[in-house]
Amino acid sequence: MEIIISSTYEEMSKAAAKAVAELLNSKPNAVLGLPTGSTPIGVYKELARMHKSEGLDFSRVTTFNLDEYVGLKKDHPQSYHYFMHENLFKHINIPKQNVYIPSGTTDNYAAFCQWYERRIKECGGIDMQLLGIGSDGHIGFNEPSSSLGSRTRIKTLARPTIEDNARFFEKIEDVPIYAITMGVGTIFEARKIVFLANGANKADAVAKAIEGPVTSMITASALQLHPDVTAYLDRAAAGKLTMIDYYEWVQAKGPGAPKQ
Ligand code: PGA
Repeated sequence: MEIIISSTYEEMSKAAAKAVAELLNSKPNAVLGLPTGSTPIGVYKELARMHKSEGLDFSRVTTFNLDEYVGLKKDHPQSYHYFMHENLFKHINIPKQNVYIPSGTTDNYAAFCQWYERRIKECGGIDMQLLGIGSDGHIGFNEPSSSLGSRTRIKTLARPTIEDNARFFEKIEDVPIYAITMGVGTIFEARKIVFLANGANKADAVAKAIEGPVTSMITASALQLHPDVTAYLDRAAAGKLTMIDYYEWVQAKGPGAPKQ
């Protein structure tokens, strides 16, 4: 895993957005996997800026979102459909038909989940998956004890997740209890993973994910087995990494052998 530690959230977001832009410049019809939450907002802002001022083109890009709350309509202000539209899609030139977000209101979740998995494959698989991490170590809504081989399905949210996400709702009872989420196995098939975390409240989960044992109790720890992961962290989120001096040393020297 490559670990890039930035001094601020803005710097972290710009570094990750640059990685996305580099992919789109080399593969204009790339397939992106996208997260919601507070973490990626800075990346989305920077991508919108790059589209507006530098012509970053999304006209051939396809996106698949990680998850959606069960029971929230697309136009509900806390739905992930709404979030993606407000924070990214309305600011860029992605065609509507290239956007896939799990449905929170289908009448057949099992069939929908199978279709979603099939659509990802039909579109050629995910080239780059962006991910945040929950304070309980989840990726997507793959809560502790989720199978590391899991596929898109309905998950019951864990109490810490409901408490974390209550800040977006009027009261905690309004937070949906169920979500539809890509599985750890689905995420793992992305060719490249961009893992994002900021803030001291993520430091424990980040340390467990990057340096702890691989365990379904911290589903982000499965990323240790993936061949191409870059973690973009701000200093606060990196605060509990025991090998931080080494990661900063690698970052300063540039990873890999010197060029011949
Ligand atoms: P956050 O959520 O970005 O709002 O902290 C991350 C997550 O739960 O995956």
